[in-house]
Amino acid sequence: MTEAAQPTVLVFDSGVGGLSVYQEVQALLPSLNYIYLFDNEAYPYGELPKQILIDRVTRLITQLVKEQGVDIVVIACNTASTIVLPYLRAILDIPVVGVVPAIKPASVIASKAVGLIATPATVTREYTHDLIRDFANGKSVELLGSTRLVDIAEEKLRGKTVDIDELKQVLTPILNKIDVAVLGCTHFPLIKEEIQMVLPEVTLVDSGKAIARRVQELLGEAGKKEETQEGRRLILSSASPWEEDALNRAVTKLGFSPIQQHPLQGV
Ligand code: DGL
Repeated sequence: MTEAAQPTVLVFDSGVGGLSVYQEVQALLPSLNYIYLFDNEAYPYGELPKQILIDRVTRLITQLVKEQGVDIVVIACNTASTIVLPYLRAILDIPVVGVVPAIKPASVIASKAVGLIATPATVTREYTHDLIRDFANGKSVELLGSTRLVDIAEEKLRGKTVDIDELKQVLTPILNKIDVAVLGCTHFPLIKEEIQMVLPEVTLVDSGKAIARRVQELLGEAGKKEETQEGRRLILSSASPWEEDALNRAVTKLGFSPIQQHPLQGV
């Protein structure tokens, strides 16, 4: 990072979910440069074998970091973070921030039980079960893994109205059982309003704001500079996105120029 230039943040996910994290980080640090990369070629990550996930994420991120002069990486995906962070940190010499289910803060405020809504992979990960063992604070944790919920968020960003009856059906296993729910997939803050309609009495917790603060902390002085001008916003996908026009309309509203393709090299 040069003195004059603003730092570049690479935000990564399998799909559009990481945009929920991007929105929190950029709200706190608007003048930084942002590259958003999503690996839609391998979406959904919640159904991918571990080794494929580790290989793809490490290769995509190292490629991009080398090409674009990135200063900090945010793995805005719980499914990837619960498994690839140690590999990335071992090969990169810049900070790597991950997103993992907010079991700890949720358990502190819960009086009944906590629900963890995440991908099928995240609810089975050893990392997640260690988090529950160490931080559930004596509360019981109900697990719900669903890829359909991830798809619903993808569809919403492309302009489709969320079907509340379908959402209720997906969330049925945890209805009336919990008083706090962890949105343990970065796609879910994008449908938070609708989830709240189905779970009106439940407090919903996600990690977006904590990630933004962590990025600011890691950037030190560079994260404190008062700049009025917004930085560069670039969005890249590993394959051609479905309903690309609708998706481009959504990302344009978030300040990006249209999506460019950046396939995984050397496949
Ligand atoms: N957004 C992701 C997460 O936080 C992954 C969704 C998926 O590709 O299954 O887990």
